[in-house]
Amino acid sequence: MEGRAINIAVFASGAGSNLRQLYTLGERGDLGPGHIVLLISDQPNCGAVQFATQVSLPVMAANHKSQGGRDLWEATMVAQLQAHGIDLVVLAGYMRIIGNTMLQSFQGRVINLHPSLLPAFQGLDAVKQAFYAQVAETGVTVHFVDEGLDSGPIIRQMRVPVAPQDSLEDLLHRVHEAEHRLLPQVVRELSEMMAKGQDIFQ
Ligand code: GRF
Repeated sequence: MEGRAINIAVFASGAGSNLRQLYTLGERGDLGPGHIVLLISDQPNCGAVQFATQVSLPVMAANHKSQGGRDLWEATMVAQLQAHGIDLVVLAGYMRIIGNTMLQSFQGRVINLHPSLLPAFQGLDAVKQAFYAQVAETGVTVHFVDEGLDSGPIIRQMRVPVAPQDSLEDLLHRVHEAEHRLLPQVVRELSEMMAKGQDIFQ
């Protein structure tokens, strides 16, 4: 394996299916030099935290309301990320905005997974938005995080067809399957670039 290990922190607030996928692949060496070494969550009881606890993955679970406000919470989070030698931050269903404190320390090393073909259907419930817009095609996007919402430079997208007879559940399932293929692909490629000392941010 070329180069050094790349330490990855995942941020998640929900079921954690993307965390589970990344962690499992990383443990098998399928993320190249990338390994998931920390979970950050604002929802102490979510599926992602439950999974991390099961596999003894270190977790930092709290939210800024209980940590004296966003700036103090982000400063604490940045200190944790640095203590774990984090190289890459992956947001996978993290429902909080990443503020300036984080971006100053990790600009260009924070990526987000969004379940639409950005710039279409930004924000919450993107799959539901696409479903009710009756588009023939939607998709998933991995992009760099900037100060906006779902607005940073796009890294990779995967298209997902929508069939007329699809239920919303059918579409959600197909979108999650696409996520579970796209995100590991991008994380592996970025990890390999970082391990070679290449700059990943365009
Ligand atoms: C994913 O669809 C992600 O794109 C969105 O939130 C969902 C997280 O799903 N931002 P999971 O918690 O990884 O299962």
